[in-house]
Amino acid sequence: MSLYQALLEYQKKEYAPFHTPGHAGRALPSWIFSLDFTELPDTDSLYEASGPILQAEQAAARLFGVPRTLISAGGCTLCIQAMLRLAAPNGGKIVSGRVIHRSAVNTMALLGLEPVWVYPRGDAGPGLPGRIYPEDVEAALIQTQDARAVYLTSPDYYGVIADIPSIARVCKKYNVPLLVDNAHGAHLKFLSKDIHPISLGASMTACSAHKTLPVLTGGAWLNIADERFVQGAKEAMALFGSTSPSYLVMASLDWAREWLESHAADAYPQLEQRVARIREMAQRRGILMPHGMCDPTRISLDMASIGLSGEQGAALLRQHGVEPEYADQAYLVLIATPFHTKEDFARVEEAIRALPCGKPIEHEGLLPPCRPQTVVPPRQAVLGPSEEIPLAKAAGRIAAQAACPCPPGVPVIMPGEKITSEAIKFLIRYGFFSAKVLKC
Ligand SMILES: Cc1ncc(COP(=O)(O)O)c(C=O)c1O
Repeated sequence: MSLYQALLEYQKKEYAPFHTPGHAGRALPSWIFSLDFTELPDTDSLYEASGPILQAEQAAARLFGVPRTLISAGGCTLCIQAMLRLAAPNGGKIVSGRVIHRSAVNTMALLGLEPVWVYPRGDAGPGLPGRIYPEDVEAALIQTQDARAVYLTSPDYYGVIADIPSIARVCKKYNVPLLVDNAHGAHLKFLSKDIHPISLGASMTACSAHKTLPVLTGGAWLNIADERFVQGAKEAMALFGSTSPSYLVMASLDWAREWLESHAADAYPQLEQRVARIREMAQRRGILMPHGMCDPTRISLDMASIGLSGEQGAALLRQHGVEPEYADQAYLVLIATPFHTKEDFARVEEAIRALPCGKPIEHEGLLPPCRPQTVVPPRQAVLGPSEEIPLAKAAGRIAAQAACPCPPGVPVIMPGEKITSEAIKFLIRYGFFSAKVLKC
């Protein structure tokens, strides 16, 4: 079947789409799809913006209350690349949370950066990586006097949010910028309480607008609060970005900005209430959810707490006409937006009501038992000659690729780290059988 046929077939199923993109297939006006233009005298040019694109960026900066916002049609990935380039143009060390998307790992390799890892504390509930703590960031900064920046992912995929104000204070004390991968939190500014990391002290945030806002896939914003990074920002984006950014995507970002200005104040409190009702209902059914500070619009359900796997939960939701964002061995994640209808939420409620509640399944610990030693920098590991070998024979070898039991979790090994027998045992439990390692 061709790709477009597969997409048409999926469309015919008419699932309530609790997954990205955040426009849920409904929010955007149909005329926007006719705007696939290019750089013309009337349409401006992303990397030399001086007309409507610059105005769109300036309007977004006003909305986020920062000196500079840049548009990306290359997703949050492009914003992460630019953010790291701006903070560490000539390589160096980055104190980084170990919950990290591969776009950041790859950028660190490309830019010759050396991460100093801070591990999350597993404090959000069983089966979840949990939060990075300010004390741990401070300890890493004391050890790493030459750190160029602190880099964090918050919220994580499950909506778990770190204590950004305290971490920002620590960063200020040591005079290093705080860079936040806010891929899942572009909407946090518009909640009944503004908890967007750029409002809470981050120096720069990479925001995947297309994940939670009415924006076409690939649309993102780089927000810059720290004036020192404003001047080189466009150049840093141009270093990695395509010279043919999609005007459809850029137009949708500007449309979303306007929509947020006029509708967010009503839409988000309503959404929070709807999600709160669903959470209460899930709780009454004995379903556990992440603890502590979390995104109030994300629905992350611990299916293991009622004796199911996340994948089984997802299959049951599909029977009720709901397609979730993500399911792993234990968790089921739904992205809720103001563009989901009453009927969509009713389907979720119906599905939750119908879930069979059995004896809880004990979580396999997701936090790796070991903290491997870095032997070579990521650049050498990712770009050097490598080979794929059976995992069982990989003890003592140097990883050329990250290995993570489930993509939004904590990688057990990162490129450049020595693979231990403990890491091998852990990964085999999660179905890994081979490893990409540096050639001897
Ligand atoms: C935490 C995190 N960071 C960054 C990204 C990359 O975002 P994008 O796909 O917009 O490039 C993702 C994508 O899933 C993500 O989950």
